[in-house]
Amino acid sequence: MSKDNNFFTHFGFKNVKMSEKAKLVKDVFDSVSSKYDIMNDVMSMGVHRIWKHELISMLNPSQTHTLLDVGGGTADIPLSFLRKGGTKCIVVDINYEMLKEGLKKALNHGYTSSIDFITADAEHLPFKNEITPCYSISFCIRNVTNISNALLEAYRVLEKGGKFFCLEFSTVNNPILSKAYDAWSFKVIPHIGKYIAKNQEAYEYLVESIRKFPPQEEFANMIRNAGFKNVGFKNLSGGIATIHYGEK
Ligand SMILES: C[S@@+](CC[C@H](N)C(=O)[O-])C[C@H]1O[C@@H](n2cnc3c(N)ncnc32)[C@H](O)[C@@H]1O
Repeated sequence: MSKDNNFFTHFGFKNVKMSEKAKLVKDVFDSVSSKYDIMNDVMSMGVHRIWKHELISMLNPSQTHTLLDVGGGTADIPLSFLRKGGTKCIVVDINYEMLKEGLKKALNHGYTSSIDFITADAEHLPFKNEITPCYSISFCIRNVTNISNALLEAYRVLEKGGKFFCLEFSTVNNPILSKAYDAWSFKVIPHIGKYIAKNQEAYEYLVESIRKFPPQEEFANMIRNAGFKNVGFKNLSGGIATIHYGEK
């Protein structure tokens, strides 16, 4: 075992060995995969659909055509991308169970020939350099063990001039909204997780992992440090979610 495997990182509010985090994250999504979509609708009261719609508009499917969606899970982003005029999507996720749910949806909507599903880690993408004009990652990157490595991988696989987009929970600065959001997150969401997904801990991890994710400016600097230019972000719902973007 290399020395690096003994370094610690966070898993929600717990400290865990870096070498253990990916497996813990995989277990979380294994256990909630069949209830993942309904949980998103209930927890966000449907608002995650508005955030994803905003991301799709920025991806501009009728002009971009092909997309690599990392941490694509149950394939909401790829399916919307194809519905809005995109022609080809590759979906990557560490979790086979989440991709299986995505594949079912793709079959139901008749999109299987335009989507490839691949199990892989965002930190080690199984692709050559510069294979895509557009990379998206939605509600995934905060779960990745080493976020900087995932950003470097995104940069590596993008073509020159290619576009990077990351939709992720972020930091709410308005104190009134922040108080209400904290109450909903810590007092309500874990109970919804318990009753619908039969897994309270998974949804405790979800809300904790959001609080550990770097705020907007700090994450924008991480994107710049990976090599991207024209980096910026757009807050959604007061910063509950944010779309970060950049260009290779
Ligand atoms: C909250 S879900 C988001 C799914 C989908 N993108 C969406 O917006 O609904 C996070 C997804 O990221 C995946 N994931 C977590 N860590 C990953 C990693 N290191 N590499 C690839 N996928 C990862 C999980 O398996 C899960 O499917």
